[in-house]
Amino acid sequence: MREQVTAVVAIVLVVGLTYLWWPRPARQATDGAPLVEVKVPPLSALEQAGEGAFAARCASCHGDNAAGKDGSGPPLVHVIYEPNHHGDAAFFLAARNGVRQHHWSFGDMPPVEGIDDAEVERIVAYVRRLQQANGIF
Ligand code: HEC
Repeated sequence: MREQVTAVVAIVLVVGLTYLWWPRPARQATDGAPLVEVKVPPLSALEQAGEGAFAARCASCHGDNAAGKDGSGPPLVHVIYEPNHHGDAAFFLAARNGVRQHHWSFGDMPPVEGIDDAEVERIVAYVRRLQQANGIF
């Protein structure tokens, strides 16, 4: 009886420790990763201001340089968001009212609190410049 208990304890320990120490990088490796590759061109002063605003207000979901973020939000440097399909007005509306999930499966975009049109205008200038530099226009 005692040996059996000892054996069970030993097995539980071995299995438990193996589980704890087993490397499991698969999910972390992609989580939060950019979804597209974005070349950043030289930016005008206005576009640089947009870059700062984007980093502060949008990059948590849309990723650095609008390259998307695995698990959080889509890239805006993407053919879906070319000016003919999503004009500048779509950006003002998205920031003010949020967006219902429809193109992707990241969930809804909530309204961006306290943002004004001047800030969105700078962000649009920045995103359009990135799109242009990456062959989306
Ligand atoms: C909390 C996450 C989050 C933040 C912060 C966020 N977005 Fe979004 N946004 C999303 C998601 C998710 C979608 C995709 C919705 C879909 O089509 O499924 C989206 C879609 C959009 C769209 C497409 C709108 C449309 O009509 O389809 C635009 C434009 C956009 N975002 C701009 C911005 C800008 C600009 C900011 C910063 C001021 C921003 N987003 C901040 C999550 C976010």
